[in-house]
Amino acid sequence: MCGIVGYAGSRQAAPVLLDGLEKLEYRGYDSAGVCVHNDQGLSAVKAKGRLSVLSDRLEGGNNLPGHVGIGHTRWATHGAPSDVNSHPHLSDTGKIAVVHNGIIENEARLRQKLLRKGCTFYSETDTEVVANLVGYYYAKLGDFVESVREAVLRLEGSFALGIMCVDQPGKIVAVKKDSPLIFGFGEGENFIASDVPAILKYTQTVAYLEDGDMAVFDADGVVFMDSAGEVVERKREKITWEISAAERAGYDHFMIKEIFEQPKALRDTINPRIKNGQIELEGVELSAEYLKGLKRIYLVACGSAYYVSVLAKYIIEKHCRIPAEAMMASEFRYCDPVVDDKTLVIVVSQSGETADTRAALVEAKQLGAKTLAIVNVVGSAIAKAADQVIYTWAGPEIAVATTKAFSTQLAVVYLLAMQMAKTLGTISDEDYNAAVKALEQLPTDVERTLCPERVERCQYYSSVYCANHDAFFIGRNIDSGICMEGSLKLKEIAYLHSEAYPAGELKHGPISLIEEGMLVVAVAGVDALFDKTMANIKEVKARGADVLCVTVEDMEPNAAQVADNIITVPRVHPMLQPSLSILPLQLFSYYMALARGCDVDKPRNLAKSVTVE
Ligand code: AGP
Repeated sequence: MCGIVGYAGSRQAAPVLLDGLEKLEYRGYDSAGVCVHNDQGLSAVKAKGRLSVLSDRLEGGNNLPGHVGIGHTRWATHGAPSDVNSHPHLSDTGKIAVVHNGIIENEARLRQKLLRKGCTFYSETDTEVVANLVGYYYAKLGDFVESVREAVLRLEGSFALGIMCVDQPGKIVAVKKDSPLIFGFGEGENFIASDVPAILKYTQTVAYLEDGDMAVFDADGVVFMDSAGEVVERKREKITWEISAAERAGYDHFMIKEIFEQPKALRDTINPRIKNGQIELEGVELSAEYLKGLKRIYLVACGSAYYVSVLAKYIIEKHCRIPAEAMMASEFRYCDPVVDDKTLVIVVSQSGETADTRAALVEAKQLGAKTLAIVNVVGSAIAKAADQVIYTWAGPEIAVATTKAFSTQLAVVYLLAMQMAKTLGTISDEDYNAAVKALEQLPTDVERTLCPERVERCQYYSSVYCANHDAFFIGRNIDSGICMEGSLKLKEIAYLHSEAYPAGELKHGPISLIEEGMLVVAVAGVDALFDKTMANIKEVKARGADVLCVTVEDMEPNAAQVADNIITVPRVHPMLQPSLSILPLQLFSYYMALARGCDVDKPRNLAKSVTVE
């Protein structure tokens, strides 16, 4: 969602801000703006639409002089996308400028109070309330930092803020509560940003702000204060990945780059966790006694991470014999879940910032559960809040449609399920060893699945089906989770209406929608259920569906007797088969999106990290 960049140094600020905002485009936005301190005071320029509109207006930042500034990409919540609703927002006095990520929940009350005190508002945003509130206290106290503190004390909700004051030319005040914000340490310059890629070109040394923190900085230094106003130190962390990891590196889109990065991401995620044929998940302590006492495992997440959770339910129950349930995080909080100290709650999140998943995690902890997070972004809120963390080492994922994060989350689920099964004694040594060996081999299997012939085949089928209006995905058991993910991919980037159903469920209603020429994607990767899935394909074929079947290489002759078109993947260990089945679906969606003229990396209405409820 919204992206924030702040800069104080000796460079021209506007180009630095635009450059940083470009690196945050992946978060999703519908307007953008910057504010720089210069001879005119606080000069703000804002524009609805793509960043290029703002950049053109600013001639790449060259026509806006000044060395200190804040920038923002906005994903509309309060008020439609428009120039006036874009950030930065100035107080009605023109003395304070604010960029904000998050939601001010008590904005209506604050707005009324400020109106009564004579404040004027020009936009519909909650952020303008912050600007006017700081402006109000600044008029009263005459102290910039104190007025920010007074204002923040009265804010409810989530916020990462970057604030400037006309009378403090070199200074920026940053505040964080429940929305991501990092501080970047430079030489004679300093930065704030919503995420590392925005400032990685300038510095690799960052501090992750804690909730409640305030950072007061200029070009020469920073003072961090905690929520009590005490001066504190914040640990300097070195970013180990290169800027190239967050660039397209010759690929047309981040999504296709990230699809091809999956072998590496899987290697980085799996290899360090297998030592001498044994899975070792550092930092994970789940004793036999604890696991045996568990009544249930909840897997809680949103979107694709939820689909990983659906797969995890099957995998954990099969191998560990503990009841497991996947739940959407947005539902978990409000369903009065049966959770206590005999429940393990596993949350899954690429960004580690998803508001619903965070809230579910907090809820689970309050109810007494042990929590374990599977997260990609180091230092993210979910990683910090969970009792135990397993990182997916996928590297930065920029495309809105997840691919490598999904695959590495699934890999972590395999590792965790096998480790728990071994601890519990619910898996034989022989089966455990076979699974570990297959896991070590998985990155290479993914690599050979992503071969040019298969990629071309997926591209070809996209040309066959790109004019379709609807699609159904059907599969059984773990394949049903893959269908959900494949269907979501098609929806989010190719804007194709698509639904996923367990194959056996179709005849209980949705089959009425099948008509002549409708695309049905069938995933048949579970041997024991292959014949049943073929029977379901026959049912939809009998009603006119055009079936594209994803199956295992040696099953092709059988599938070819039933389906119209086939894409095969190599045969691997049965538990790992979904990791290969998803690959053609990712490629198919990518090429479908291209064929339909969609903006693959920046799909409409979507944000990479959903930091509001
Ligand atoms: C995936 O392609 C989507 N963009 C989306 O469903 C995503 O998986 C979901 O919003 C969860 O995000 P998280 O993993 O960062 O928590």
